[in-house]
Amino acid sequence: MCGIVGYIGHREAYPIIIEGLKRLEYRGYDSAGIALFDGTDLKVSKTKGKVVDLENRVATEISTNAKLGIGHTRWATHGVPNDINAHPHYSNSGNLVIIHNGIIENYDALKKELTARGYTFKSDTDTEVLINLIEDVKLKENVKLGKAVQIALNQVIGAYSIAVFDKNKPDEIVIARLGSPLAVGIGDNEFFIASDASPFIEYTKNAVYLEDEEMAILRVNKDIKIRKIKDDTLVDPYVQELQMNLEQIEKGGYEHFMLKEIHEQPNAIKDTYRGRLLVKDGIIRMSGIDDNIEKFLNANRIIVVACGTSWHAGLVAEYIFEDLARIPVEVEYASEFRYRNPVITPNDIVIAISQSGETADTLAAIKLAKANGAFVFGVCNVVGSSIARETNAGAYTHAGPEIGVASTKAFTTQITVLTLIALKLAKAKGSISNSDYRYHLQELELIPDKVSKALKSDEHIKAVADIYKNARNCLYLGRGYNFPVALEGALKLKEISYIHAEGYPAAEMKHGPIALIDEQMPVIVIATKKGHYEKVVSNIQEIKSRKGKIIGIVTEGDINVKELADHIIEVPETLEPLSPLLTTIPLQLLSYHIAVMLGKNVDQPRNLAKSVTVE
Ligand code: G6P
Repeated sequence: MCGIVGYIGHREAYPIIIEGLKRLEYRGYDSAGIALFDGTDLKVSKTKGKVVDLENRVATEISTNAKLGIGHTRWATHGVPNDINAHPHYSNSGNLVIIHNGIIENYDALKKELTARGYTFKSDTDTEVLINLIEDVKLKENVKLGKAVQIALNQVIGAYSIAVFDKNKPDEIVIARLGSPLAVGIGDNEFFIASDASPFIEYTKNAVYLEDEEMAILRVNKDIKIRKIKDDTLVDPYVQELQMNLEQIEKGGYEHFMLKEIHEQPNAIKDTYRGRLLVKDGIIRMSGIDDNIEKFLNANRIIVVACGTSWHAGLVAEYIFEDLARIPVEVEYASEFRYRNPVITPNDIVIAISQSGETADTLAAIKLAKANGAFVFGVCNVVGSSIARETNAGAYTHAGPEIGVASTKAFTTQITVLTLIALKLAKAKGSISNSDYRYHLQELELIPDKVSKALKSDEHIKAVADIYKNARNCLYLGRGYNFPVALEGALKLKEISYIHAEGYPAAEMKHGPIALIDEQMPVIVIATKKGHYEKVVSNIQEIKSRKGKIIGIVTEGDINVKELADHIIEVPETLEPLSPLLTTIPLQLLSYHIAVMLGKNVDQPRNLAKSVTVE
C-alpha cells in the first residue's frame, strides 16, 4: 500500500507534501518521510510513526524553500517500520532519490546481483534495491534518468508506483506505474503527484491518471510526456476534471472521519440512488445495466469478487439477487478466486465490488475473469479508479470520499447499488410482481430517513458500549439477509477496538460458538421482524439459558426480544431485503464508541490500511 506525494513547480513544496501525506495516511501510517530539493541542497527526513511525527521532526531538521519534493507514508511490506526503512530511499551515489508504493517481487535476486557489483544497502527494503538498479543502469548504459528508469523497470517483477528524481537534474521528476495508483495534477507550469487526487484538489482540478505500464517525465514549463514502459511508445495524456472538493475530505466538526462517515449515510444513500431511482415512473435507470441487459438476462450465474467489507456487501447481494431476480450467485474472496483455477465461462457475469477501486486481489480477479471471457461489472466508489477502468461496465456508489479505515458508508451505498441492480433485473425478468416491485422502490426511497432515525439511538448505543467495552470476545448473530450484517458488525468491532469478535449465522451457533457463551460473553443478535424472526428468538433463548449477555437489534416496537434481551436497540421497520441498510447502523456506532472509550485510534487502526494494493 503506502501513499506517495510529489511536487515540482514554483511553489514551496513542503506544505503541499506534508498536507498531502496527511490525506493519504489512510493508505498506511507506520512510518513517513520527505525529501526536499532546492537545486543545491537535498534535505531528507524520515521517521517511524505517523505524518504528524514527521512534521514535528521536520520542524527542527529542515528549513527550505525547495520547489521540488517527494513524500511517503508507509505500510510496511519488506522490513519492519523504522526510520531506516522509511522512504525516500537513495542510490549509493546519493544522487537518485525514490518513493515507492508496491512490491518488487524479484528484489532478492536483483539485490544479490547489485551486491556482487559492489552496491551496499542500508535498509531491508525492496525500494532501495530498485533505486540502485536504476543507478546501475544509468551509469552502465550512460543514459538519462527517464531512460534508466524505463530499462530498470523492464527488469522488475512486481507492482509499483514510483517517483524518482536526480540531484543533477533539479527540474524533473520521473514517475511510473504498474499495479499501484498514480495521479498527476496539472497546474500552471507545475505538477502534483499523488496516490489519489486528494492532496492536490485545492491547487488544480485537472488530473491525469497513469495507466498500468506507463511512465511520465514531469518537467517544469513543459507538457507532461507519457510513454509505455515496455516499448517506449508515446501515449496521449487524457486530462480529467476532478469532481472532488476540499470539504468532502475534511472532518466537518466530527471527532473522527468514521463518525462523520457514519452520519453521512442518509445523504450518501440518497446520492447513490439520485437520478437512478424514479419511484413515480416505476423506473430504475442505470446505463451500465441498460446497455448490457441481454448479458444479464442470459447469464448462467453471477460471481461476486471482493475483499473485506465489500465482500460482505457481496454476500448481501447474493441474498437479494437470488431472492428477487432468481439469478444464481456465488460470492468469492478475490484473493482465493484468483489462485484457485475457478471455472469461469463467457456466460458468467462477474461483479467486482470495491470502495477504493484499487484492491490488488480484486483487480487480479477481474483480469482473470476477463481473460476467461466473462463480462465484468464494477461497483466502485472512487471515480476513475483502476477497477472502474478495468471493468467492462459498472455503477459508481457516489458515497463521496471515505477516509476512515473502517468502511461504513461505502458498505451501505454498495448495498444500495446492488439492490437497485437486483430490482431492475427482477423487473426485466418478471421474477417480481409489479406491485412488489413498486413497493420495494417506495421503501428504498424511504431508507435515508430511516437511517437518520436509526442514528438517533447514538446516546443509548454509547451507554451499551460503556457496559461492554472491556469484553474480551463478542459474538454477532444474524440470519438470512442479516447474516452478512453480523459478519460486518464483528469485523467493525475487531478492526478498530482489537476485541475478538465473530459473526455467525444464528442457527449455526449450535455447532461451535455456543461453547464460548458464559455470563461474560456479549452476544449481539439481529432479530428484526419478518424473515426468520421466530427462529432467531429461539436462538436468543438458547443464549439466555447459557447466561450470555444479549444485545438485540430489533424492529421498533418489538416486545418478544425486549423481554429476553439485556438491551435492545431499535431500528425502523422496512422490507426484509432492505433491512441490512438499517441494522448495520447500530453495529457501526457500537464499535465506534467502544473503540473511542478504549482510547484506540479509530480512523487509523493498527496494521490496517484503507486501500490494499499489495496481494
Ligand atoms: C481494506 C480496508 C477495508 C476494505 C477492504 C477492501 O482491508 O481496510 O475497509 O473493505 O480493504 O477494500 P475495497 O477498497 O476493495 O473495498
